[in-house]
Amino acid sequence: LDTNTLRAAFARFPSGVTVVAALVEGKPAGMAVSSFTSISLDPPLIAASIQRTSTTWPVLRKATTLGVSVLAHDQGELSRQLSRPGHRFAGVRWSLGSSGGVLIDGASAHFESTVHSELSAGDHVIALLEVSAFSYESISEPLVFHASSFRKLA
Ligand SMILES: Cc1cc2nc3c(=O)[nH]c(=O)nc-3n(C[C@H](O)[C@H](O)[C@H](O)COP(=O)(O)O)c2cc1C
Repeated sequence: LDTNTLRAAFARFPSGVTVVAALVEGKPAGMAVSSFTSISLDPPLIAASIQRTSTTWPVLRKATTLGVSVLAHDQGELSRQLSRPGHRFAGVRWSLGSSGGVLIDGASAHFESTVHSELSAGDHVIALLEVSAFSYESISEPLVFHASSFRKLA
């Protein structure tokens, strides 16, 4: 199978966009992640699929607490910034959660989590995260990622 066209086919599945982030040596580090999914209520588990080539995940997975922020409709450009090389958090407003996770201001929902386990999955790693704290906005329009573009719900 051709991986480029397969990627395009996978991208027909619309998703939200999250930012997985942590404090590393006193500074925020993180990456945009659209492969977020909720897994279990008891225990509370969420998951993300991370490409093996990621240079940020090996740093994040060692952090005590990982913040996962579900981005809102007006945070598409922010997610692009948080996927590029360089100083990703320049100009980004964020806060520390009650468990010490790095949370993006203005997001629709926030989870703080610890790494529960990692499952090797081809050229990706499925990271299972156990949620220790969360909050959400009751009225917030989501950012939708579809076919490599950001969309808003009508
Ligand atoms: C909207 C969006 C969604 C992304 N989703 C994922 C994802 O689910 N998994 C992943 O490994 N990388 C994802 N990325 C790419 C990462 O954010 C990042 O660019 C990549 O890990 C390379 O950077 P790094 O070497 O710092 O990890 C996404 C990027 C964008 C813009």
